[in-house]
Amino acid sequence: MSSNHVAFFDTTLRDGEQSPGCSMTTQEKLTMAHALEDLGVDIIEAGFAMASEGDFAAIATITQAVKKPRIASLARAKTEDIEMAARALQFADRARIHVFLASSDLHLEYKLKISRAQALELCGESVRLARSLVDDVEFSPEDATRSDRDYLVEMVRIAIEAGATTINMPDTVGYSTPEEYAAMFREVRQRIPAIDAQGIILSSHCHDDLGLAVANSLAAIDAGARQVECTINGIGERAGNAALEEIASALYVRGDRYGQTTSIKLDQLYPTSQVLGQIITFRPSPNKAIVGDNAFAHESGIHQHGMLANPLCYEIMTPALVGVAKTHLVLGKHSGRAALRHRLEQMGFALTRDDLQHVYYRFVALADRKKNIYDQDLVGLLPDQIRERRHEPVSELD
Ligand code: KIV
Ligand code: ZN
Repeated sequence: MSSNHVAFFDTTLRDGEQSPGCSMTTQEKLTMAHALEDLGVDIIEAGFAMASEGDFAAIATITQAVKKPRIASLARAKTEDIEMAARALQFADRARIHVFLASSDLHLEYKLKISRAQALELCGESVRLARSLVDDVEFSPEDATRSDRDYLVEMVRIAIEAGATTINMPDTVGYSTPEEYAAMFREVRQRIPAIDAQGIILSSHCHDDLGLAVANSLAAIDAGARQVECTINGIGERAGNAALEEIASALYVRGDRYGQTTSIKLDQLYPTSQVLGQIITFRPSPNKAIVGDNAFAHESGIHQHGMLANPLCYEIMTPALVGVAKTHLVLGKHSGRAALRHRLEQMGFALTRDDLQHVYYRFVALADRKKNIYDQDLVGLLPDQIRERRHEPVSELD
């Protein structure tokens, strides 16, 4: 039986960093690791020790300064990678070596040029070696979703027998659908009784090539996964990894549906996203769920009217829940009188019904020509007698 707690394995500093514009210095990784610790993630994959001296240094530095989460290093199924990962992790209070090896014929034949049998042997040897160096070993059959199912099951069984405590089944190229991904977890779990008997944690790791990374991760949770691998802002290889903030919010907002607890402090989601945005070269797109600039912005008159009457009309969570300061009623050509009056009142201008009607027509004409309407534009629309009647503005706009 699986528990009802989902562990968050954050790979912003490893898979996330493996994407254009996202490379980070050791100092930047340390800043990010502190933010992830404050956010409450359970495991931080701090890098790939063998990949570069910088990655090694970042992992070693993070293990000495960040103590709450477990710290992991990635390693290929090679002796030198695994030994290097163990050295980088030597000061960690709680270390994990994350060994990966492809399980799909495509990768075995064209990338690794080894047979299925050789890969099974490598899997067993490398997990055993890792387990002789640390007591927490994760194994990932890379490209699991495009692997022959019987072979995948065989590889996972060997990894467990060799001492892996977490089995992560990645959708490496973002190919799977939620139904298929869930079915894979159910089948592997059902065919390997040791998973439940020994309390082996199953983990999801999804890429977003078809825009399904978060849906696939949630489907895996439904099928028994109790660890999700994800990144802040969904950064990562190609179209990115599953976005941490989306999975955590979905589990909370739809707690009725998923019934899972997490250690994520939701009000740190937006601040953590901001920290990352300042470190790498780009910020999330404005329409990005949870952390995008427009995630809590409303422009259309019908929505603004509903929001002013009761925010539940158009918001399924408060901005404060995820650490966003406030809802934004953005004034544009779809806005109505209610939002215009609300904004002007906040700015200190009390309008009669007739005043509002007059200003509203001018506002709509302006909004037809201009994409962004600023407070000073609004002031410019007001007749002198209203401007002169200005009272103290409300300190917090919107
Ligand atoms: O996407 C992937 O398969 C990976 C593995 C290294 C876990 O990132
Ligand atoms: Zn990945």
